[in-house]
Amino acid sequence: AHRREPDGAPRRLARDVDAAAAALRAGELVLLPTETVYGLAADARNPVAVARIFEAKGRPRFNPLISHVSDAAAAEAIARFDAAARALAETFWPGPLTLVLPARDGAVCDLARAGLDTVAVRVPGHALARELLSAFGGPVVAPSANRSGRPSPTTFQDAVAETGSAASAGLDGGPCAVGVESTVASVLDGRVALLRPGAVTREDLTAVVGRLVEAGEGHRSPGRLTLHYAPDAPVRINAAEARDGEILLGFGPGTGDPRWSLSPTGDLAEAAARLFRLLRDADRETPTGIAVAPVPATGLGEAINDRLSRAAGRVG
Ligand code: TXA
Ligand code: MG
Repeated sequence: AHRREPDGAPRRLARDVDAAAAALRAGELVLLPTETVYGLAADARNPVAVARIFEAKGRPRFNPLISHVSDAAAAEAIARFDAAARALAETFWPGPLTLVLPARDGAVCDLARAGLDTVAVRVPGHALARELLSAFGGPVVAPSANRSGRPSPTTFQDAVAETGSAASAGLDGGPCAVGVESTVASVLDGRVALLRPGAVTREDLTAVVGRLVEAGEGHRSPGRLTLHYAPDAPVRINAAEARDGEILLGFGPGTGDPRWSLSPTGDLAEAAARLFRLLRDADRETPTGIAVAPVPATGLGEAINDRLSRAAGRVG
């Protein structure tokens, strides 16, 4: 077995930005910290490297990847922006927003787009992610670093445990401040559809572009079809209390053990940041099930409820 660092990462995992950029250039995979969740990253123009990601995650190949770039100018080199897309980019980048836009030919490989004529693009806000993207100098695809179907990793240690064996470098950016994946919005012909809720909320999008349209038609969302975010134990949502053998994840004052609370004060940002970590921690106690108290569905609560209902198998 490989010798290990104190944080559990194998010693062969290179840990600095230059080594990570070199690994991307060599077609290898890198654990990438972002403010949302950790990603498993590869050169978006290298189909062999991108294929390794699908392999490592056990991800269905119809599910396209997000291309990460260092700034809006680099995003314009891979996707076509209209006025609505530009307004969203100016307001929310760098940050937890992914835009699905018409792709420019050949800017990222077909496999990264799963053959679609659109491309998902994001400028992350995390300082280490931006350093790596600048040092590498090209688009980097990065799905969440979990194995397909499992909760996304929100710490370096969880990323290492999920897919670290497939990576040759990894950057420890600390616990993710947001904790749920980026908002995905598709912008086609000036119309904007919310494909995946996140920390940039429905209300945030509406404030910039006005009315949103329903997903579907041109606004396709292949990733939403698959099983997601599921720990090993069954998840029961909107639970008033724990049943025999269950762990209850509370929300707000007086909902069970504060250690297992998403947020003892009922703060949605704190609940999002703790969500996947607590699902993983609860799972390690091998309960008969994980019960979760109701979380309001407003603002960031839409993203939390989306992930919880998928973890509970209610959607997808
Ligand atoms: O926060 C995040 O977005 C993280 C970090 C690492 O950036 N990444 C992430 O990637 O969550 P992933 O692959 O787990 O989720 C990407 C989502 C999927 O639902 C996928 O189907 C969707 O974006 N997507 C990607 N390209 C698309 C496209 N061309 N059209 C529609 N949906 C697309
Ligand atoms: Mg994912």
